[in-house]
Amino acid sequence: DTKEVGDQIRLKYRYLDLRRPSMQKNLMLRHRVTQVARNYFDEHGFLEIETPMLTKSTPEGARDYLVPSRVHPGKFYALPQSPQQYKQLLMLSGMDRYIQITRCFRDEDLRADRQPEFTQIDLEMSFVEQDDVIAVNEGFLQRVFKEVLDVDIQLPLPRMTWQDAMDKYGSDKPDVRFGFEIKDISDIAKDCSFKVFKDTVANGGTVRLINVNGYADKFPRKEIDKLGEFVKTYRAKGLAWMKLAADGSMTSSFAKFLSEDEIAAIKERAGAKENDLLFVVADANWQTAAVALGALRCELAKRLGLAKKDDFKLLWVTEFPQFEYSEEENRLVAMHHPFTAPMDEDIPLLDTDPAKVRAKAYDIILNGCELGGGSIRIHDPELQTKMFEALGFTEEKAKEQFGHLITAFSYGAPPHGGLAYGLDRLCMLLAGLDSIRDVIAFPKVQNASDLMMNCPDTVDDKQLDDLSIAVTRVEETPEA
Ligand code: AMO
Ligand code: AMP
Repeated sequence: DTKEVGDQIRLKYRYLDLRRPSMQKNLMLRHRVTQVARNYFDEHGFLEIETPMLTKSTPEGARDYLVPSRVHPGKFYALPQSPQQYKQLLMLSGMDRYIQITRCFRDEDLRADRQPEFTQIDLEMSFVEQDDVIAVNEGFLQRVFKEVLDVDIQLPLPRMTWQDAMDKYGSDKPDVRFGFEIKDISDIAKDCSFKVFKDTVANGGTVRLINVNGYADKFPRKEIDKLGEFVKTYRAKGLAWMKLAADGSMTSSFAKFLSEDEIAAIKERAGAKENDLLFVVADANWQTAAVALGALRCELAKRLGLAKKDDFKLLWVTEFPQFEYSEEENRLVAMHHPFTAPMDEDIPLLDTDPAKVRAKAYDIILNGCELGGGSIRIHDPELQTKMFEALGFTEEKAKEQFGHLITAFSYGAPPHGGLAYGLDRLCMLLAGLDSIRDVIAFPKVQNASDLMMNCPDTVDDKQLDDLSIAVTRVEETPEA
């Protein structure tokens, strides 16, 4: 159990890897979490209903895994990215409350918290508003922490709007276990003689900072320069800094261009005192500045050991934008999914300024990780049609892709909403682990292959013939 073995070997001989007590413990914890979920939601009137694995490809979201049909040559099923449409249709059928612990499939780039197939605790409720969904789920989270870890979670959980999360933490999944919150100093920097700051504000951008308070002595000049490289990976153009030593003296990359008053104002805004270190990013795009500083604050907290794994900080992020701009597709796409209801007061903006529309969408965040997400859905066919329009679907395309849903809604749907947790992520965080692989019995590696079963793999020509499939390109498997 104590031997360090590489992941490749561990996963190739997973059946042996799973003999280790630590892995057995992880799978037992996962079992407990699913039992708590089944019991809790059963007690609250949720019905467990299975939905199909062979379903229809839809254009929004990640890339689909496709399954060729033998009976219908040239046609394909898609494996579900989530049971989203089915659970909404179940509400329409009068099922009132649904839950399913189910596998989802997404062909996307893998990371420590992403697998091509993963498990959701998926639920949906009818005749609810956002507060109802949140209340039921807070009860569930409290129960999981108590029964699995004997940790008490105080309710209600804090809530933060998406805008506040972005402004203060530079992230839509803020880690609030530590401070270093972002502050805007554009108003102070706009008239200063430091060209980078002044020009940025003049061109409509912002200047923002974080205060790494109490840790200036931990960052010598060489480290600071390296952090400049770090923020560049988040598209920031540079990192300006100001260091206040314990003896009250100051060094800075930009202070020499500023007046005494400007420096004093910045220090006051940052709440800066001895042994504090300010990092400043100026950018034409407020989100770029925020995200870069947000990533920096997390990186610094990690290095300083400030993010304790057993310090569980849960919160809701609400009022997400309805749309986000896709540079790839050059259009607005749904930030959550196309069935998410806009906030009532923002509906008129759908026609005038869609980028400003906020959605009745919410994510549950645990220690900087998106544990789950959901929304109140559109139940009015007219509004749904309008939403498809805003997303750039022609009437024809919307009918072809979502006709079944639009027709279904015309028979009358209750107001409804729901949420889905990433079960793998929940278990990973409860177990204090860094990768969801360690809570999955047989996970895939980075390039989506299963090293133990040795798949994906080629199949017989006969099998391809049966499916009317001709393989036109075979590439070497990329290195795992
Ligand atoms: P969403 O796409 O946010 O919402 O997914 C819900 C949760 O599933 C987890 N998750 C993943 N876990 C591991 N690997 C992945 N590739 C992966 N992708 C997502 C995350 C995420 O928060 N149908 C909606 C839910 C709803 O609106 O009710 C949905 O799927 O923890
Ligand atoms: P330069 O003019 O590129 O030599 O940069 C001078 C100083 O300003 C360096 O400390 C840079 O890291 C910093 N700097 C440059 N661009 C930015 C920016 N957009 N935001 C914050 N600091 C910057």
